[in-house]
Amino acid sequence: MGHFLGFGMLWFLLLALGIGAQKHSVPRGIDLECLGNLIRFSLDGSQLWGHGLEADAFDGANFIPLTRKLASQCGYRMQSDPWGNVKLFASAQHCFFESNDDETFTVTARIRLSGSPVSEAAMYTVSKTCIYSVWASREIICNANYMEVSVIRRVPTTGDDFEKELTEYEGVDDGSDYEVDSPLKLWKVQFHTGGQTMTIEEAHNKGYGLAVSSTRALLRSPYNTPETATLDVSGVPMQVIKAHTFLKRKWMVKTLESSAACPTGGVTFTEEMITWRLPLKITPLLSSEHVTIIEYHMGIDGKRLDATTMAARNYRLTMTDSHIIVEIPMGSVDGYYKSQATDYQYYITYNIEPMLEMLWKETAMYDDTRYKVLFPIAIKMARPPFIQDNTVAEKRVFDLFVGSFRSDVALVNITFETGVISVAEANAQGFNVQEQLLPNGFKGYTMQVPFSDPVVRRENPTLDVTDYILSVTFGFVTLLENAPFSHPGILKSSLQDVVLPTVTGTCDLEYFYVNVAYGSQGHNFVVVVGQRELTPDIANEYRYTQNDTHFTIAVHFLAPDAVFEIVWASLLRSRLNVVLKNNRDWTLNDFSLSCSFPMTMIECFPNGTMTALAVKVESVPDLNLSHLTLRDSRCKPAYSDHIFAFFSFNVNSCGTTRKFINNYMIYENEVSLESGKVATAADQYLITISCSYGISITYTLPFNTMPNPEPVVDAAMGVLLVRMQLALDSSYLVFYLDEHYPVVKYLQEPLYFEVELMRSTDPQVELFLENCWATSEEERTSVPKWDLIVDGCQNLVDPYHTMFHPVSADARVHFRSHFKRFEVKMFSFVSEGVALKGQIFVHCDVVICDANSPTDSLCRGQCMNKQNTSATSKRDRRSTGNARVEQVSSRKIVLI
Ligand SMILES: *[C@@H]1O[C@H](CO)[C@@H](O)[C@H](O)[C@H]1NC(C)=O
Ligand SMILES: *[C@@H]1O[C@H](CO)[C@@H](O)[C@H](O)[C@H]1NC(C)=O
Ligand SMILES: *[C@@H]1O[C@H](CO)[C@@H](O)[C@H](O)[C@H]1NC(C)=O
Ligand SMILES: *[C@@H]1O[C@H](CO)[C@@H](O)[C@H](O)[C@H]1NC(C)=O
Ligand SMILES: *[C@@H]1O[C@H](CO)[C@@H](O)[C@H](O)[C@H]1NC(C)=O
Repeated sequence: MGHFLGFGMLWFLLLALGIGAQKHSVPRGIDLECLGNLIRFSLDGSQLWGHGLEADAFDGANFIPLTRKLASQCGYRMQSDPWGNVKLFASAQHCFFESNDDETFTVTARIRLSGSPVSEAAMYTVSKTCIYSVWASREIICNANYMEVSVIRRVPTTGDDFEKELTEYEGVDDGSDYEVDSPLKLWKVQFHTGGQTMTIEEAHNKGYGLAVSSTRALLRSPYNTPETATLDVSGVPMQVIKAHTFLKRKWMVKTLESSAACPTGGVTFTEEMITWRLPLKITPLLSSEHVTIIEYHMGIDGKRLDATTMAARNYRLTMTDSHIIVEIPMGSVDGYYKSQATDYQYYITYNIEPMLEMLWKETAMYDDTRYKVLFPIAIKMARPPFIQDNTVAEKRVFDLFVGSFRSDVALVNITFETGVISVAEANAQGFNVQEQLLPNGFKGYTMQVPFSDPVVRRENPTLDVTDYILSVTFGFVTLLENAPFSHPGILKSSLQDVVLPTVTGTCDLEYFYVNVAYGSQGHNFVVVVGQRELTPDIANEYRYTQNDTHFTIAVHFLAPDAVFEIVWASLLRSRLNVVLKNNRDWTLNDFSLSCSFPMTMIECFPNGTMTALAVKVESVPDLNLSHLTLRDSRCKPAYSDHIFAFFSFNVNSCGTTRKFINNYMIYENEVSLESGKVATAADQYLITISCSYGISITYTLPFNTMPNPEPVVDAAMGVLLVRMQLALDSSYLVFYLDEHYPVVKYLQEPLYFEVELMRSTDPQVELFLENCWATSEEERTSVPKWDLIVDGCQNLVDPYHTMFHPVSADARVHFRSHFKRFEVKMFSFVSEGVALKGQIFVHCDVVICDANSPTDSLCRGQCMNKQNTSATSKRDRRSTGNARVEQVSSRKIVLI
């Protein structure tokens, strides 16, 4: 049902409720009850939700709108809860009662929709007659809007029609005749506070109610008038009114004392319990110390409760020396909660109206007093909302609960960092906002927001962790008062879910190819190639291509961002570094790709011209290539830039030296920094360049930079028993090291192999080569295969015979028997009539013999008896236990 019901619709509802003009039976939804000296009308307004009702009091002739002033003056109180349930209380001695015997009281009222005119048809007249005959000599009612005291005026005694007036003073003669039967009339009232004496009319105008009936006199006062006082009675604040009422008959004036005292406080509470204390002795009302409490009762909404109901609801009524104490569990069914929003904060009030009744006796003017307090309590409690984070990070959805509220609160909107949306929009966006009822009568809302939604912010506290942050403010409104309030919260969830970009690379003869896969966070990083950030211009230069997930670049091996690690005669090892950094300068990937590219560094021409290319290498970073010279420092580079220095000179110049080795003439020179230009050790740069000239054969030798060689890793030499090495030349003094491989050789060049038995100090063992052969694949048994040594002898089929070289002792060779050397001509490797180019590997089967026991034919010497007893030697060679066979292979050799 909406808030904006028209009167027409309400008219229908009122009819449905049974509120109709001129109806006589008590309609459904209306309850009329006699509660001692009070009469109560209750109207169930649940179907009139959001609309108040108003009442008119019937004064015997007309209906008078029940204003606040009229209500407190005349003993009415109308009260409604937020759902339109209305209670109308009237004192039995309300202004308009008519009773001859002070026992039968009737209240008539009319109820109508608030705001509707008095003449409106949509109203209902209720009337109730109650009988109350057990008057105490003084009855006090503390209602929420008035204090009322009714005292006995005449004491009925035995004997017809004889009644004695209380406290009768005579002697005031106003000159009128004495008439015994003329009625006693209210004349004046004197209030104790302020001491003011007023006429009855003046008192009425000030909102007081004063009346006399056949047996009683009544004073009714609103709270907080100038004539009331506030007193502390046993720790409870009370409003007190005390007055002497003067009654007059002819020349006779009588005075009555009327006092009322009503509590305005005395409530304390905890989260669980409301405690209300009333002083046991309400001293402003007492004239002696000797007071006896006859009975006391607790009630709710003006109606006494029986013991069973009290027990069922956990109400407690106790009496101490000083107080009567009512204890009510917070949230009990007789009260109700209501939401409130003040200054954008959420509060709830718990409202309940307990009642206390006491009857006490004392030896005084009024020997018994019935005392009744209807005490509405509204307890306001801040209930700051909370957000409960039920997120399970792995599910990648924020799951939250915001609560808790009474049912009279609605969630209106949700503010994210990206803006405000309504609840309907949130649901359309898939956030699944649902109201959840809690068992304690409160409610809340659940919501789910996927981590992937744009309202979720992302941050990376470390490289591989993502923080998902949901900043949210819920906007609420209280339904009854339409007051807004809100609750903010920040939820954070972390996942180690970052896939970092990956970099892979390959090379061909000229280019590095780098492929970058973006990872989980897109192309959200800076690329540094070499020392430079990859700007659009550089990207263009490097043939940058990209799609949604990858980009690639192709970088030439001589590009400025490549660095040269090492140089060989015909190869240049170049390295490309690629670093990916995020916007916080964290390195996401540090990649480097190192490849060897073929490049001719030295050329020897038959006319005696030598050319050499010197390259800036990484190990000498500050080298200025234009400062390089040959041995003769006048010989400067023919050309230089920041990468290369190019020398071209004749072998007879520039300090070139010449030496003869075997049948070769070897010319050597050196490239180094001009003397005087060497600033630091790191600037030292020395390369030896040489050319060998044989008979119509020219070849180059490798060179390297000195004295900053790359570190050499000696790959597990220590465990090898037998090794095969390739010597630089037939002197067998210098050998290629691991890092020189693949060794590049021209076809004309012979290969000088040495096979060594290592780590043996036994002169009695001897190493023999049984079979040696070459393959173009690394696998020993691969084909094609070229035999070099067969059964310990040169392969006679090969026109370029393999040649054994003698071994002589020197610093390295301690036991000649542990070494064998042989020379292979590369033209041996013919495939389909053409000399092989490309890679080869050389393999040998090695026999290690005991020199003292040459049982095997091989052990008698390398190719000793083979040539004479050609076909017989193979037999039972391995039948003896004295020979060991080892296998050994060369590394890759490239023929060009
Ligand atoms: C969201 O709701 C709150 C609480 O009801 C209200 O104060 C605020 O103005 C609303 N915001 C928007 C943009 O509607
Ligand atoms: C993007 O490029 C990479 C190679 O760079 C390729 O593997 C991938 O399939 C491409 N993706 C699309 C969507 O084209
Ligand atoms: C030697 O030969 C090379 C290659 O043919 C040539 O470039 C160079 O100029 C020649 N040098 C001389 C001094 O003739
Ligand atoms: C190298 O030295 C030359 C001559 O001294 C000079 O002109 C040139 O600027 C230097 N180059 C660098 C990169 O320092
Ligand atoms: C093998 O034959 C050669 C001649 O061909 C001869 O000189 C040599 O002594 C012979 N060796 C043996 C061990 O018979």
